[in-house]
Parts: sequence; C-alpha cells; structure tokens
Amino acid sequence: MTILVTGARGHVGRAVLEALVAAGQDVRASSRDATTLDVPDGVAKVSADLEDASTLDAALEGVSGVFLYTRPQGVDGVVKAAEAAGVRHVVLLSSAATLEPEAAQGRIAALHHAAEQAVTAASFASTVLNPGAFATNTLAWRADVAEGVVRTAYPDARIGAIHERDIADVAARILIDGSHDGESLPLTGPEPISFREQAEVLADVLGRPLRLEELTAEQAIERMLALGWPPEVPQSVLDAWKRTVSEPSPVTDVVREVTGAAPRTFRQWAEDHRADFA
Ligand SMILES: NC(=O)c1ccc[n+]([C@@H]2O[C@H](COP(=O)([O-])OP(=O)(O)OC[C@H]3O[C@@H](n4cnc5c(N)ncnc54)[C@H](OP(=O)(O)O)[C@@H]3O)[C@@H](O)[C@H]2O)c1
Repeated sequence: MTILVTGARGHVGRAVLEALVAAGQDVRASSRDATTLDVPDGVAKVSADLEDASTLDAALEGVSGVFLYTRPQGVDGVVKAAEAAGVRHVVLLSSAATLEPEAAQGRIAALHHAAEQAVTAASFASTVLNPGAFATNTLAWRADVAEGVVRTAYPDARIGAIHERDIADVAARILIDGSHDGESLPLTGPEPISFREQAEVLADVLGRPLRLEELTAEQAIERMLALGWPPEVPQSVLDAWKRTVSEPSPVTDVVREVTGAAPRTFRQWAEDHRADFA
C-alpha cells in the first residue's frame, strides 16, 4: 500500500519522504504544485491543496497512511476525504504549543489544536506529533550570518531544538508499523540549548566568528513580520522564548523510544546544513 507524504517540499516532509524511501516503502509525494516538486527516483508525485478538498481524491486514492501537515483551514475536508479513501493511519505534524498550560496557549496552539481534534476524532488510526522548536528555525539567521552576526531576542532562551530528520524518522517508523494509534508524542532534541550556544556551535561548524546582537522583542517581531509570519504568531513565539530564559524548555526521550536512536544534536544539524549558510 502507498503512503502519502503531504508537504513533500517542506523541511520535515522531505525528510519523511527520504526516510520512507530508504525503508523501501511505496511513497507518493504531494505539493500544491507537483510540477515543480523534485522527488527521488520511483516516487510518484501529485498536486493537492490541503485547504481545498476538491484536489484531494487523486492524492488519496489507494493510500493506507498519510503524513499530514497542519494548515490553518481545511482539516475537516482532509479528514472526510481520507475516510472516504479508506486511509488507515494519519500522522499529524502538530506542535508542542498545544501541550502548554492553557493560559500560555496562543494562536499557534489554537490552530494546531483544531487539527488535532479533527484528526483524532476520525475513523482512521491517528498519531499526533508535538515537536518543540525546530533547529531549522535557525535558517532565518542566514542573511545575518553572511554579515558575521546573529541577531535575536532572548539570546539565553533555552529550547530543545529538534532536527527535522528526527521528527521524520518518528513519523516514518509509525507509518510503517501502524503503531502509536491514539497517542500524542512530545518530540524534542536531546538537550535545551540557548540561541547564544547555537550561534557558537554554528560559528564553530562554519569556521568563522559570529557576533551576537540582542534584539528587543519589538525589533524581533518586526523582523518576523517582514519574513511573512502571520501577524498573530510572533508574540506567542516570543512569549515562549521569554519563559525559557528562566526555565529551559523540557526535553523528552520520545525520539529514542520510537526510533531506537538518540535524537541528533544541534551540532549535527549545523553540520548537515553547512551548505545552507555558504
Ligand atoms: N518551526 C517550528 O519551530 C515548529 C515547531 C513545532 C511545530 N511546527 C510545525 O511544523 C510546520 C513547519 O514544518 P516545516 O518546517 O517542514 O515547513 P516548511 O519547510 O515551511 O514546509 C511547509 C510545507 O507545507 C506545504 N503547504 C503549505 N500550504 C499548503 C497547502 N495549503 N496544501 C498543501 N501543502 C501546503 C508546502 O508545500 P508546497 O509549497 O509545495 O505546496 C511546504 O512543503 C509548522 O507549520 C508547524 O505546523 C513548527
């Protein structure tokens, strides 16, 4: 049976695709525009918009498992189409934001919570992945790194930055085994690491010095909006960073429990992405 990987151009989606192909699975990759999607040999590709149910039938035909991105809209249409197609298991990429105490939950939690509810109420088996902050967020530093600087608010915020390959390995294992039905899995990297420490590791891996420049929260929000972030998101992110200055975000051992391998370190991530900072 075929496994559908939505968002196959995305950081996590691409890594899921590669993990499934490496495991010898029959995989179909989707994007809103499959004509410009680059996939490994032997992988079928299809255009599908998760926010437009009328585009989903071809993508879901003959599919047993789905790796699903959370989108702000359309999840009910995805669930209905997947049920109609006879999908057996959906692994949803959600967020650790939904695991925060209710008082600390913002817009990010709300949109992921809605997707979690729709998927877990469906007739197929489902597993929710709740990763904390991605190591790939550091890619937003690229332009500054080219100038020899890292600019961030709350440089001493300590997050459990997770490698996209660890999220992908968990998703692939579950889609192959059909395991962890009904579970929500909090995923993190191996240790809390501050932005200051990430900048130091990156400088070491790139072999050039990086000066750290602290931004105010207002400056950071302005930059996030300029990068195209939805207006309601930056404040939630900054609130979360602020909390982890005094109390590092907790890390879990779930990646190891599911895959049998220790989660990759931020240094490993930086080495894997050296070319992205060239
Ligand atoms: N960044 C974090 O720290 C963090 C933490 C926890 C959870 N998350 C979750 O992870 C997600 C980001 O994952 P990522 O880094 O892999 O993202 P990414 O690299 O930005 O990729 C996003 C993918 O979503 C696809 N997409 C966008 N709109 C779509 C639509 N309407 N229909 C179908 N596909 C659509 C895009 O594909 P096409 O453009 O090819 O259609 C793209 O491949 C966040 O949105 C959030 O849900 C992120």
